[in-house]
Amino acid sequence: MSTVPLESFLAELDRLKADAVEALAAAVDADAVERARIEFLGAKSGRLKAIQKLLGGLGGADKPAGGKHFNEAREAVSAALEAAQGRVAGSAAAVEPLDVTLPGQPVRLGHVHPITQTIRRVQEIMARLGFESVDGPEVEDQWHNFDALAINAEHPARDPLDNFYLAVARGADPLLLRSQTSTVQIRVMERREPPLRIVSLGRVYRPDTADATHYPMFHQVEGLYVEPGTTMAHLKSVLRQFASTFLGGDVHVRFRPSFFPFTEPSVEVDMEWGGRWIEMGGAGMVDPAVLEAVVSGFAFGLGVERIAARRYGVTDIRDFYRNDVRFLEQF
Ligand code: DAH
Repeated sequence: MSTVPLESFLAELDRLKADAVEALAAAVDADAVERARIEFLGAKSGRLKAIQKLLGGLGGADKPAGGKHFNEAREAVSAALEAAQGRVAGSAAAVEPLDVTLPGQPVRLGHVHPITQTIRRVQEIMARLGFESVDGPEVEDQWHNFDALAINAEHPARDPLDNFYLAVARGADPLLLRSQTSTVQIRVMERREPPLRIVSLGRVYRPDTADATHYPMFHQVEGLYVEPGTTMAHLKSVLRQFASTFLGGDVHVRFRPSFFPFTEPSVEVDMEWGGRWIEMGGAGMVDPAVLEAVVSGFAFGLGVERIAARRYGVTDIRDFYRNDVRFLEQF
């Protein structure tokens, strides 16, 4: 019987151990781990089994050392196998304790919608001019939306085709989604005595067909200033100061004669910024039919989408409401 030299036996063992550890570490799934197990630890034709057979060929004096190294190698390969099995079982979390000091998953934060940003900015600028922000309901009665504003029963603005009347009534008249924020002027004057300096921003509703400049729901800024001695000059200078601050730079304000039932005289308000004139809303001196007190005052109503579109260079107001984050993320 030929004697196997101890050195070559040990070298064989080392090579096997290195190959096994490498193969098990590289195994990406349970199948690969199982293939490695069969190759190295397989009971019939595993490489470890083959080396075990060489043990008997060692010289008598080499047997204890050979056996000891063989057992160590088998344990090392078994340990590597267990580690690999644990890893591919997806039980990394179960094996490793949770490390609470690791950075967390980042939370994807949204941001404030451009119309809301505009509303907040308008409130802030108007506050600096002494205007207090107030609020009113979006579901209104006809008194506040029309009658109190001297919009009489025959006025075309009350047409059912131009308003969202509800199937719910208060008294004899159906309620409606307010078609203008001028309602808030009335609500404030009902509760408070002059002097008044208020601004109200909110949604209004009209059954318009949506296009680049119309939408069935939009926002208005309503301003009301009541104090003895108020003139159109005050109105113009408040609008100009507001617009110059909001848009940045010099804004020119132009008044065109117009008619609103609740102001006398009434004007359309145009603004020029960067060489372009745009109609931004209406304004005027509060009509005595609305304000019985002898004091004078002015009021104005501007479109929030219009001033936001001008400021941000948006050419289609429908973009504000498409909820496309690629558009909204720009602001
Ligand atoms: N409420 C008017 C509208 O929706 C806008 C308006 C015009 C408001 C004149 C005012 C005003 O306060 O004085 O068309």
